[in-house]
Amino acid sequence: MRKPIRKAILPVAGLGTRFLPATKAVPKEMLTVVDRPVVQHVVDEARAAGIEHIVFVTGRNKAVIEDHFDRQFELERTLQERGKLKELEQLDRDTPKAGTTSFTRQQLPLGLGHAVWCARDIIGDEPFALLLPDMLHMAKDGKGCLASMVEAYDETGGNVLAVYEVPEDQAFQYGIVGTGAVHGKAHAITQMVEKPKPGTAPSNLAISGRYILQPTIFDLLAKQGQGAGGEIQLTDSMLKLKESEPFYAVTFDGAIYDCGSKIGFLMANVAYALSRPDIEDEFRVALGQVLERK
Ligand code: UTP
Repeated sequence: MRKPIRKAILPVAGLGTRFLPATKAVPKEMLTVVDRPVVQHVVDEARAAGIEHIVFVTGRNKAVIEDHFDRQFELERTLQERGKLKELEQLDRDTPKAGTTSFTRQQLPLGLGHAVWCARDIIGDEPFALLLPDMLHMAKDGKGCLASMVEAYDETGGNVLAVYEVPEDQAFQYGIVGTGAVHGKAHAITQMVEKPKPGTAPSNLAISGRYILQPTIFDLLAKQGQGAGGEIQLTDSMLKLKESEPFYAVTFDGAIYDCGSKIGFLMANVAYALSRPDIEDEFRVALGQVLERK
């Protein structure tokens, strides 16, 4: 029996410099895609995959994320008194139950690998999911990216990464994997390269920001020195882990929006608005009007 994936890490300690000045006082994870903060969309995906406990790795100026996932008694009472029961039910669904979230501080933004390492004690000795909260994955089948990865992991065990196809001439901007034998819904990963030099990438499959990792990664992260950009890079430790443990790739079927970039964030708002039955028609007309004005 494989150990189930019960816990997920959401690293939210990055500075969000690509989104200044918006992110000076507001964490980029709290910017809204339609009417839900980006981080709430990612928590929805984690919960849909059966995740029971979410570990947020936070930093300075991120306390509002903790508040967002807390209950708000005054607001709840006011909604009750005003008969706004639909809104009340939605708040109740969105708020994790007591004891199912943890918050730990990274203190200094030393890189994604370091952020993951900060969660080691809370995760303990079990495999876990890692979701980069600025990457929104809109699945075609509506199932959710992490849910598909958990299904694959139940067959393969080991470490599982979600990947997606990027244009070949853009591969140098991404973490790229080379794949081999088929294992059910996954492919064995044979190579992993962070930002390959143009023309040298083993494929056009980029790592998308969703991972299932074994806890052995923590010992490697503890010893990991600085890598690209002077940061402690997760990819460097995954490359070491790959020498002793299998890695599998699950190709994500859907659209991915990098909400850490301005264009990705704007595209996400349009795509999510167009997928919402309650506002889709009105928004389509409004969008047409805006485009005509230009
Ligand atoms: P990014 O590099 O996309 O986030 O890291 P960033 O550093 O906030 O972005 P820019 O370039 O300054 O705009 C990917 C994920 O890793 C987290 C980020 O919060 C983001 O979710 N991260 C990154 C940390 O938690 N700690 C770090 O030291 C670095």
